[in-house]
Amino acid sequence: MVDTQNPIIEFKDAAVKRSHRVIWSHGNFSIPRGSVTAIVGTNGTGKTTMLAVELGILPLSQGTVRILDKPAGKANARIGYVPQNYTSAGESNITVFDFVMLGISANRWGFIPTTRRERDAVRHTLEFVQLTEQAQLRLNELSGGQRQRAAIAQALVNNPELLILDEPLANLDVASQNSVIELLARLNKEFGMTIQMVAHDLNVLLPVLTGAVYLLDGHPHYADMDNVLDSDLLTHLYGTKVEVITTPQGDMFVTHNSLIEPTTRIEHDTHSVDEAAHWHTPSSVSSIHSSSSVSLTDTNRVQNEESEGHHDF
Ligand SMILES: Nc1ncnc2c1ncn2[C@@H]1O[C@H](COP(=O)(O)OP(=O)(O)OP(=O)(O)O)[C@@H](O)[C@H]1O
Ligand SMILES: [Mg+2]
Repeated sequence: MVDTQNPIIEFKDAAVKRSHRVIWSHGNFSIPRGSVTAIVGTNGTGKTTMLAVELGILPLSQGTVRILDKPAGKANARIGYVPQNYTSAGESNITVFDFVMLGISANRWGFIPTTRRERDAVRHTLEFVQLTEQAQLRLNELSGGQRQRAAIAQALVNNPELLILDEPLANLDVASQNSVIELLARLNKEFGMTIQMVAHDLNVLLPVLTGAVYLLDGHPHYADMDNVLDSDLLTHLYGTKVEVITTPQGDMFVTHNSLIEPTTRIEHDTHSVDEAAHWHTPSSVSSIHSSSSVSLTDTNRVQNEESEGHHDF
């Protein structure tokens, strides 16, 4: 249930620099509790940077970011984080069970034996992500989709209120993408978990997304899906002709297919700020995208803390 009165993430005039270069600025938006949002923008626009800011890993050069009613970095114990390309590098020789246990024990100093309660939490989480049978396999013996579910399990094992994922669908085939999306949908619907993920392909996510943060012209904005699904906005955002198609049945999908309407390629961010002024005004978070059935297109194809509101999935 999306609670628009109760933001889980709040950006106020936020700006960030890397190597003295402003990556994005004037971030003024709130993300509601209970939402499922995508962070979208072309490569290098600062999506991963945004997650680093939210986790307090990277300081702002201006403004504030509050998350779970605390300054960024102060509520990480209530946040599950799945980094970009997490399981493709390193740690491949450890068992799935031990890998998920790291979500509980990684920040401990020295050797402290795990408790039965912690082992039960790992088993329970593995069951939820449907990896019970693979618990004793090594990570490098899993398929890409299974590895991504193991990474999600590690982030979930502490019952976070907010789950943040950086490109969780990258390099997965359609079936594996769908199994990850189904998992995220269950976490949101059954346990009220708020989910934020960096994504490139909106289509596969349309059935679950309630909104998106889009990085346009070096400024991040948040809008609900009804406002994001705008052909002109997405065309400017992706720098290539994008159409939002609604079928007679009411299904919607986004297409990058230049055959639908031949166009010249649009260079990213060539429009003036005046031209795009209506995209840079704070959006009204009003209705929530309610499309329950969305067509796919193949055209282009953090730590243990007792706190209220924890979900026991
Ligand atoms: N450690 C770093 N030091 C300096 N600059 C960096 C660092 N990491 C990233 N950048 C720069 O910050 C900008 C944003 O990078 P970021 O990784 O946030 O982009 P992204 O939107 O996540 O891209 P992608 O879609 O490729 O993952 C890029 O221009 C990048 O070169
Ligand atoms: Mg990135």
